[in-house]
Amino acid sequence: MPSAVTRTTVGIVGAGPAGLMLSHLLARRGIDSTVVDHRTREEIESTHRAGILEAGSVRLLTETGVSDRVLRDGRPHAGIELRFQGTSHRIDFQHLVGESVWLYPQTDVFVDLADARERDGGDVRFGVTGTRVVDLTTERPGILFRDAEGAQREVRCDILVGADGAHGVCRSAVPEAARTLFYHEYPFAWFGVLVEAPPSAAELVYTHSGRGFALISQRTESVQRMYFQCDPDEDPAAWSEDRIWTELQARVRGADGFALKEGPVTDRSVLRFRSLVCEPMRYGSMLLAGDAAHTVPPTGAKGLNLALSDVRVLAQVVGNAMSTRNRALLDDYGPRALRRVWRAQHFSYWMTSMLHRVPGSTDFDVRRQLGALRSVVDSTAGSAYLAESYTGGEIHHHTFAGRT
Ligand code: PHB
Repeated sequence: MPSAVTRTTVGIVGAGPAGLMLSHLLARRGIDSTVVDHRTREEIESTHRAGILEAGSVRLLTETGVSDRVLRDGRPHAGIELRFQGTSHRIDFQHLVGESVWLYPQTDVFVDLADARERDGGDVRFGVTGTRVVDLTTERPGILFRDAEGAQREVRCDILVGADGAHGVCRSAVPEAARTLFYHEYPFAWFGVLVEAPPSAAELVYTHSGRGFALISQRTESVQRMYFQCDPDEDPAAWSEDRIWTELQARVRGADGFALKEGPVTDRSVLRFRSLVCEPMRYGSMLLAGDAAHTVPPTGAKGLNLALSDVRVLAQVVGNAMSTRNRALLDDYGPRALRRVWRAQHFSYWMTSMLHRVPGSTDFDVRRQLGALRSVVDSTAGSAYLAESYTGGEIHHHTFAGRT
């Protein structure tokens, strides 16, 4: 069967937030794109991911006309609690750096982007199979796939973007000799639960305890998201609801009497932890964005924000390369994106190592961790570093209207 061939300027693999936001930003510059994803819209919508947006990410969504639903349904959080030795310490982002973050789940970001692309007539194909990327070192790379009806398709483009996540086909299509993977594996994971209960605290609570890390996050007035550090091989099915609550309560307990409001556990999963960066972020006519290029552990809530900041740079660089007909400008993308990526890698690693119990750690290690936490909460400079990094660092000085 010969395949139906279509042409577009930018072919995008992956219809998560990175791929859809890129397609949206390119459309604003008059650049057409086609996005394909092997998942259906429903599959992506029902995947639970992290929930914190930097102010810059919120501005990118609202000021470029994706949607302002985040301003109505999202909640601004002006700080977090760092909890250790049974006491909570508030890090006041507004006071320290004049910024807040927004609690707005990634699934909602995805829904807003998918709706916006549909509203604006974007070409997004969900539920495709057998995706392959070809001819990456030519000026006419292609995406081959079967569409949702099973027909063989071929999209030819000028520039191909791999936004297909950590396990996608794009990064693995780069020959090993043409890239370096920088990699760090952590000896623990997160046990994540969704629970039906009222919020236990006004803001997110990041907890260091002798039993390991716990994070008390939120979703709505009646649904909460919580995590506790576990073994990477932990079987989520082996935990009764009682055991989950006993473990969470034990980790947050303290002299101040703080306790979690309990309720039924409606979803559970184990999230693996790693840090990874693929360099360069370009191979021939293909550019990598978001998790396809780099992964961070969830402790700093940076994954989605990094993906959005990648494609903001990427849309500018592609715009420049197309308008000047100079493909050499594509080389600007990686180095510009990587500055922010490595800062976020450091921040995520730093938060992770300060808060988690490392198997086999000594009393010295634990006392040193507490010293690190003290260096944050007892020092304005220490707190400000956390606040600046958590809320998005330098990016909050930018506005996006008219520039993206
Ligand atoms: C979440 O709400 O899912 C969440 C929040 C903050 C994190 C990680 C996950 O650092």
